[in-house]
Amino acid sequence: MTVLSQPERLALLAAAREAALHAYCPYSRFPVGAAVLTDRGEIYSGCNVENSSYGLTVCAERNAVFQAVTRGSGHLRVQAMLIYSPAKSPAAPCGACPQVIYEFGPKALIHCVGTGPKILETSLAELLPHAFGPQDLNQ
Ligand code: THU
Repeated sequence: MTVLSQPERLALLAAAREAALHAYCPYSRFPVGAAVLTDRGEIYSGCNVENSSYGLTVCAERNAVFQAVTRGSGHLRVQAMLIYSPAKSPAAPCGACPQVIYEFGPKALIHCVGTGPKILETSLAELLPHAFGPQDLNQ
């Protein structure tokens, strides 16, 4: 598994925290920011965007991936993602997001950070061990 350097970790944390400030979450009041590190060293971030129809809410993690696709310079490989929410304990991504991250980063490192000292360091493979992906369509 790739290990994040301290500068990479700090840059991801800064980007995720900044993104969380933009969260549109009037219903849950639970802001989340996520930052993606690509294998080219680029960082893209996203926040959660809720909707009055609730079910159309998009998580910070998926918005960060979509930003990386939209703004990136080509073939996207997600090396790591850091997820920040201003809650005491770190929150792991919901079930839908690992599926979206898998498409671009099956080996991605996932760091979840809150305001307290506890950090959840895991990997996409650990969150989604038997993923459905492009390999299933091309056989
Ligand atoms: N949320 C995220 O953005 N990421 C997650 O992994 C978990 C949940 C958002 C969705 C919703 O806007 C709020 O947090 C409460 O569920």
